[in-house]
Amino acid sequence: MRDTVMPSMIEFPDQNASKIKDEIVRFNHRLAETGLFTDEALAQLLDEYPRDQVTICTMRENPPPAERWIAGDADGLSGAELVEAARRGRLWISPRTAMTDHPKYRAVFDKIMADFSKETGVQVLRGSAAVLISSARMGVFLHVDAAETMLWHVRGDKTMYVYPPKDELISERSLEAILLKETLSDLPYQPWMEAEAIPVALAPGEAVSWPIHSPHRVVNGDNTNVSVSVEYTTRRSMLTNGVLCLNGRLRREMGLNPSARSVPGVLKPAYWAANKAWQKLAPPKHNALASHGRQFDVDLSAPNCVRWRPGFGPQATAKAA
Ligand SMILES: [Fe+2]
Repeated sequence: MRDTVMPSMIEFPDQNASKIKDEIVRFNHRLAETGLFTDEALAQLLDEYPRDQVTICTMRENPPPAERWIAGDADGLSGAELVEAARRGRLWISPRTAMTDHPKYRAVFDKIMADFSKETGVQVLRGSAAVLISSARMGVFLHVDAAETMLWHVRGDKTMYVYPPKDELISERSLEAILLKETLSDLPYQPWMEAEAIPVALAPGEAVSWPIHSPHRVVNGDNTNVSVSVEYTTRRSMLTNGVLCLNGRLRREMGLNPSARSVPGVLKPAYWAANKAWQKLAPPKHNALASHGRQFDVDLSAPNCVRWRPGFGPQATAKAA
């Protein structure tokens, strides 16, 4: 009988798989070989996936780190037209849960996470991933993710800038605010932070993982980009976030000044359990949701494929100034 075991989708050069939780780690992957990330496959995905679950936004080219993206709609456009707009325009298009909600992509997601665990020894409790289709010179602004994150890059070129999760760059108080949903994941940017940035250039077939709670931002090269952004939770990140959430509530509701760094590992499960119980008894009051008003529609006949709605866009901004 033939051996039908699929080869691993992931390969770590230089034995660096064991550093995955503590350092910026690069590795190689074979996502492109699935055939699910060609223009044709992405067009079909966008036709089969609920359009209201697709994030569509625009921004200035090579956006400065502290800028924010602008949301738009793409009602009535086919998947092929949307892919064409990403190729010609200034757009960031993401079917947010495609990797877990679309059966064909789900099978690939399950395979890459199984291979990731096998290669690194990381036990993943749960995970999700988004497909990202973005135009040349678009980007992601400075932010921090609550969960462990990695980026699997499939097409085009991009550079990721990772900043160490030091207190001067991301304080425990601001991390707590993000985890307690008082604020979104965006971070204030100061030019002096650039001295701390570690640039990671990504070519097709390359991926990068960074330590949890490291601030980061991304800028595309001069070509259309396709990537998969993966978020996952491990026991370690679950406990870390449990400590931060509990401390956040102690700081805000009891006036204490706790430090997550001083909590010994042996006590973290107790912090996590206490936070769970507190959440159940008295859920946190905040719920910062990304509610972005739509300012444009994707239109293949408009400049940069962005048709601004009345009152929005560079001309409206210039008039207001
Ligand atoms: Fe991120």
